[in-house]
Amino acid sequence: MSSKIVAANFKTNHTRRSTAEYVASLDRFMAENGIGTPVYIFPPATALENFETESGIRIGAQNAYPTVKGSFTGEIGLQQLGEFGIDTVLIGHSERRHILGESQEFIAKKFAWFKEQGFTIFYCIGEPLEVREAGEEAVRRYLVEQCEGIDTSYENLIMAYEPVWAIGTGKTATPELIEKTHSIVKAFSERPLLYGGSVKPSNIAEILAVPGCDGALIGTASWDISSMQSMLEIVNSE
Ligand code: 13P
Repeated sequence: MSSKIVAANFKTNHTRRSTAEYVASLDRFMAENGIGTPVYIFPPATALENFETESGIRIGAQNAYPTVKGSFTGEIGLQQLGEFGIDTVLIGHSERRHILGESQEFIAKKFAWFKEQGFTIFYCIGEPLEVREAGEEAVRRYLVEQCEGIDTSYENLIMAYEPVWAIGTGKTATPELIEKTHSIVKAFSERPLLYGGSVKPSNIAEILAVPGCDGALIGTASWDISSMQSMLEIVNSE
């Protein structure tokens, strides 16, 4: 049985109803096919729920504010997550860094706070194209800076390397590039390290076969249940 971690980031896709249908149907599929690999789903905040699953699918929040409750318009805190038994959160995603403008300082504060709560944290790092084009040392420095203030040895941490130029573009990093970059990250964090960026049924096998790749964080190709099922079948057969 594969122990690779497979995580689905729904981003701003799926509703409360379609998420419930997705989780129920994925749960049935995993139970029927004996898929025991750890699976995490990150639905939008409106679809969070304490799902009872046979296969142990875990549900996480794509984002949360470092507070129990309070006056942070538009945000959700520990009390809202607790209602649904959520103890997993995604922090540092490039869309929150670059589109929502989250600073490293704020990200580090969020990380420290959810670590204090004992949350499982999926922590994302990844360089934009111009940094990749500036060469490997520039990439290394960029990734190290994205871990400033982060306890990269936190026991409930799962790291994710997601090059910005490969996210939602259909352009996947080559296995060689993933291996090289993962070795850079592994030099400062020994926690499990996922790859993310245009992972799909046609490339998941070769990506998960890369030495030092402990799983995949999948956006687009996870939104369609049959595509997610295909990927899980592939992971399970490796
Ligand atoms: P895509 O799989 O759509 O490239 O997205 C990756 C991602 O951002 C997962 O967090």
